[in-house]
Amino acid sequence: MHAVVIDEGQLRWQERPDPRVGDHDLLVAVKAAGVNGADLMQRRGLYPAPPGSPCDVPGLEMAGEVVSAGPRVTGFAPGDRVMALVGGGAQATLATVDEAHALAVPATLPWPEAGGFMEAFATAFDALFGQARLALGERLLVTGAAGGVGCAAVQLAALAGAHVVAAVRGAERRGAVAELGAAEVVGPAEVAVRGPYDVVLELVGAASLPSALEALATTGRVVVIGVGSGAKLEIDLLQLMSRRARVFASTLRARSRDEKASLIAALGAHVVPPLADGRLRVPVSQTFPLREAEIAYERFAGGGKFGKIVLVA
Ligand SMILES: NC(=O)c1ccc[n+]([C@@H]2O[C@H](COP(=O)([O-])OP(=O)(O)OC[C@H]3O[C@@H](n4cnc5c(N)ncnc54)[C@H](OP(=O)(O)O)[C@@H]3O)[C@@H](O)[C@H]2O)c1
Repeated sequence: MHAVVIDEGQLRWQERPDPRVGDHDLLVAVKAAGVNGADLMQRRGLYPAPPGSPCDVPGLEMAGEVVSAGPRVTGFAPGDRVMALVGGGAQATLATVDEAHALAVPATLPWPEAGGFMEAFATAFDALFGQARLALGERLLVTGAAGGVGCAAVQLAALAGAHVVAAVRGAERRGAVAELGAAEVVGPAEVAVRGPYDVVLELVGAASLPSALEALATTGRVVVIGVGSGAKLEIDLLQLMSRRARVFASTLRARSRDEKASLIAALGAHVVPPLADGRLRVPVSQTFPLREAEIAYERFAGGGKFGKIVLVA
């Protein structure tokens, strides 16, 4: 097979041995693989792959066709279209996937959308409903709402009957985010005056969280998922106490096999049906051939996109 390989901070398109298929694994011919901030961090040596995943082939999500299946696989067969979450190794022509971390691709969904679905939607779904317990009619703030996770969160929350306030710094992308179902789309400077927020999904980090906390409702919940603008800040604990606030924070990649499997089963039950019938979509800003990962990563790092950047075979 060929793979995007991290070699001393550079991305190279190299030939590699085909991956070994474990008992519960699918060998998948990759058609599309999303690019994520974690890939760029891994390339810089800041986010090593978890044990069991290839250490120098990036990629946390992909979609493709099953080529073969391990002896204990029960749910998929060669030829099936799958989309999956992996600990690494998705940006290659072949990848192995634990069948418990794979879902069937709806017939209506093109490969690039399927390849960019898993990481953003799993992250947003888990943060909003698993952690913050977002409920019908609540006011949600999503910061960094024009990115991959933000676009997923805005749609999921709107579909669940929340009032979504989306913060987007690029004015030219605010209309597109409103079309995803956000009731209000604001610039970062307006966040503090548009509250109160029952739930805050923090995708930007230190540069953004202080304004969100200022406008947090009593019994408000904050979920910290992204810290691209910085991970350290001073917080007024009295303010949190007086609001009886709760702060959650999490990562997806390092979770156990079973934790990921139950999240993916929930995605299959609750998120794939509205994805299949068009109530949810995966905005793809741009696609690049797998072998041009270097250019795709540069585009990702440049910001200003709406939704996902996806590598295609
Ligand atoms: N914890 C987890 O398990 C997990 C899982 C997935 C992602 N993440 C993290 O969550 C974050 C969002 O992921 P993503 O895939 O949606 O990334 P993304 O597509 O790059 O989106 C990030 C968004 O944040 C905006 N942004 C960045 N810095 C900003 C700032 N200083 N002020 C205002 N807006 C800012 C960007 O705007 P511009 O386009 O204008 O730059 C962009 O719209 C990333 O940090 C990612 O690493 C964490």
